[in-house]
Amino acid sequence: MTNPADMATPHASATPAPTVYVCVTCRPPGAPDSPARPGAVLAAATEQAAAGTEVEVRRLCCLGNCSRGPSAALRCNDSWTYVFGGLDETCADALVSGARLLARAADGILPWRGRPEQLKRGLIARVPPIGFPGIDP
Ligand code: FES
Repeated sequence: MTNPADMATPHASATPAPTVYVCVTCRPPGAPDSPARPGAVLAAATEQAAAGTEVEVRRLCCLGNCSRGPSAALRCNDSWTYVFGGLDETCADALVSGARLLARAADGILPWRGRPEQLKRGLIARVPPIGFPGIDP
């Protein structure tokens, strides 16, 4: 896993756009190192898939899902955050479609209906938004 200090982003800013974060240092478990990391290939494909849409694609180093990469996360204001693994460049369109679906979800939850198949299989975690009140015990 990448040292968190290496991930400092002094220019980070809040954005209302649905965003796909793609880990560019990911490679599948056991895969040999290569000049073009599969995560970087996925990032490039996702940037291409998002061109002309409202979806932003941002590259980062490590989502903490190294053993189940390549990895990406979907974020949207006031929505849950979704982390996916086991991806490859064929998942780029699914990531963009998922981000758009999440942005339209009134309850902030990525709906199962209409969710691209790759995003049904590869879910690693979902994280509630800041301010989520929790549930009654
Ligand atoms: S290298 Fe850690 S999640 Fe990609």
